[in-house]
Amino acid sequence: MDQGTGQTLAWADLSAWEKVSDTLYMLHTGQGAAALGLVLGVMALAVPAMGATGVILWWTARKTRPRLRANRPAAQAETILLVGSEGGSTWGFAGALHTALTEAGRRVHTAAMSSFAPDRYAKAQRIIVLAATYGDGDAPASAKGFLDRLSKVRDIPMAVLGFGDHSFPAYCAFARAVQAKAAQAGWRALMPMDTVDRQSPQDFARWGRDLGAVLGLDLTLLHQPAQPDGQSLTLISRRDYGAEVQAPTAILRFALPNLSLWQRLAGFGRFDVGDLLAVLPHGSDLPRLYSLASSRGDGFVEIVVKRQPGGLCSGHLTALKPGDQVRDSVRRNPAFKPGSSRVPLILIGAGTGIGPLAGIVRGNRTGRPVHLVFGMRHSDSDFLYDTEIADWQAKGRLTRLLTAASRGRRPHYRQDALRAEGAEVAELIRGGARVMVCGGRGMAVGVADALTEILAPVGLTPQMLKTQGRYLEDVY
Ligand SMILES: Cc1cc2nc3c(=O)[nH]c(=O)nc-3n(C[C@H](O)[C@H](O)[C@H](O)COP(=O)(O)OP(=O)(O)OC[C@H]3O[C@@H](n4cnc5c(N)ncnc54)[C@H](O)[C@@H]3O)c2cc1C
Ligand SMILES: Cc1cc2nc3c(=O)[nH]c(=O)nc-3n(C[C@H](O)[C@H](O)[C@H](O)COP(=O)(O)O)c2cc1C
Repeated sequence: MDQGTGQTLAWADLSAWEKVSDTLYMLHTGQGAAALGLVLGVMALAVPAMGATGVILWWTARKTRPRLRANRPAAQAETILLVGSEGGSTWGFAGALHTALTEAGRRVHTAAMSSFAPDRYAKAQRIIVLAATYGDGDAPASAKGFLDRLSKVRDIPMAVLGFGDHSFPAYCAFARAVQAKAAQAGWRALMPMDTVDRQSPQDFARWGRDLGAVLGLDLTLLHQPAQPDGQSLTLISRRDYGAEVQAPTAILRFALPNLSLWQRLAGFGRFDVGDLLAVLPHGSDLPRLYSLASSRGDGFVEIVVKRQPGGLCSGHLTALKPGDQVRDSVRRNPAFKPGSSRVPLILIGAGTGIGPLAGIVRGNRTGRPVHLVFGMRHSDSDFLYDTEIADWQAKGRLTRLLTAASRGRRPHYRQDALRAEGAEVAELIRGGARVMVCGGRGMAVGVADALTEILAPVGLTPQMLKTQGRYLEDVY
C-alpha cells in the first residue's frame, strides 16, 4: 500500500501453506475469532472431564463384578463358566462357583456369555452357563449374540442355570431359550436345566449339590447376594382411588433423594419412566418391584400401588403418610421405553398399569401423537390421573383417550374399546406406530388377542411387532 494515498501498489495471494498455518494459529489462539476460541476452549476442557467421568462409570460397573482368583485363559481351562447378567448379581453367584471349583483343583475360565468362542476351548471338558432373563424373555446385556454362536457345536457337555423372578410371566425364558437352542443344535447336556428364583441362595446351593454329584465333587455353594445400595425416599403426597370397587390404589409421590456429587457422577439417582423401583418390605428379604411413573426430570419419584389382600409390601406402601420414608433402589428397564422418535404411540393399560403410561404422556412435550387406552373398574372411583389427563389433552401431550369401565351402566373392557376403533388402530400400526402395554398378565393376554384380530387385515401380528421392537410390555 502507498501509505500516503492508501493505494494498492502490489498484491500477492497467500500460499496454501500460509492459509493452513494462519488457520492453525487462529485455532490455537482464538485470535480474530473470539467466539470460536471460546467454543474450542470449552471443548478442550471437556476432554479431561469426559476422561474422569468415564473412569468413574467404568469403576462403578467394575465393582459389580467379583474378583476372580486364578481365572485361567480360555484355551487352558477345563471348565468354562459363562455369565449372562444385566444388573450384576449373577456375577456374584458365578464368583462363588468359580472359587468353589478352583478350590476343588479345577482350572476354571469365567467370562461373559457374549465372549463365547467354542473354538478357543481347547481343553474344555464342560461349559456351565449362568443366565439371567430380561424384558420379554430377552438376553441380558452380557449375553448379547450368544444364541447366534450356539450353532457351532463342539463335543463339550453343557449345563444351563437360569436366574429369574417368578413374578415375571416369562420366568427364566432366556435360559430356557439357551437350553432349547443348544439341544436343537446338538450340544450334549451335562445335567438337566435348573433355575434360581429371585437370587435365592437355597436354590443355588441345591443346584450346586446336583452339579457336585455330576462332577464327583462335594460342592458347597454358599452365596448371599448383596442388596443394592438403596436410598431413602420421603413421601410428599398421595392420592387414593378404588375404595368403592374393593381395589384400593394409591398414586404415591416421593421427593427426589439427596445425592452427593460422587453418587450423581456414578449414575445413582438416574431413572426414567418405565424403570422399576425395588422396595424391600419389613419382614422379607425379597424386594418387590413397582413401575416408575415419572422421570428424574419431573422432579419427583412416582409409583401407583394397588393394595393386595394380605400383601406385605403393597400393604405397607398404601399405608404410608406424607413424611414417612421407604428404602428402595432403581432397576433399569431399557426394554420398556417410548424411544425418542416421532412415531405415534399407542399406550394400553389397566389399573396400576396406567402409571408408566401417564408418565410418558406427562413427558411428551414435543407434541408426538400419543393414543391412550385405559381400562378401569368404575369411572367414578378408579379413573387414576383423571384431572391430569384432561390437562395433558388440553396441552397437546395426549392426542386421544379411550376409556373402558368394566363395571357401571355399560360394562366395557379395553379389548372392546380397541376392537371398536380397530380400523384406526390397525392403520396407525401399519404406519409405524409403537404399542406399549402395561398392567396385569390377564389384561396383556386379552390385549394381544384383540390386536391379533385387529391386525389380521393388514397382515401383521403382535409377535411380528415384538420382533421389530414395536410391541413393548411391562406385565406382572
Ligand atoms: C415388573 C413388575 C412391575 C410391577 N409393577 C407394579 C406396579 O406398578 N404397581 C403395583 O401395585 N404392583 C406392581 N407389581 C407387583 C408388585 O411387585 C408386588 O408383587 C405386589 O405389590 C404384591 O406384593 P406384596 O408384598 O404386597 O404381596 P406379597 O406379600 O408378596 O403377597 C403375594 C400375593 O399373595 C397374596 N397374599 C399374601 N398373604 C396373603 C394372605 N394372608 N391371605 C391371602 N392372600 C395373601 C397377596 O394378595 C398377593 O397377591 C409389579 C411386579 C413386577 C414383576
Ligand atoms: C427390568 C427387569 C426385567 C426382568 N424380566 C424378567 C423376565 O422376563 N423373566 C424372569 O424370569 N426374570 C426377569 N427379571 C429378573 C432377573 O432376571 C433376575 O432378578 C436376575 O437374578 C437378575 O440377574 P442380574 O442382576 O445378574 O442381571 C427381570 C428383572 C428386571 C429388573
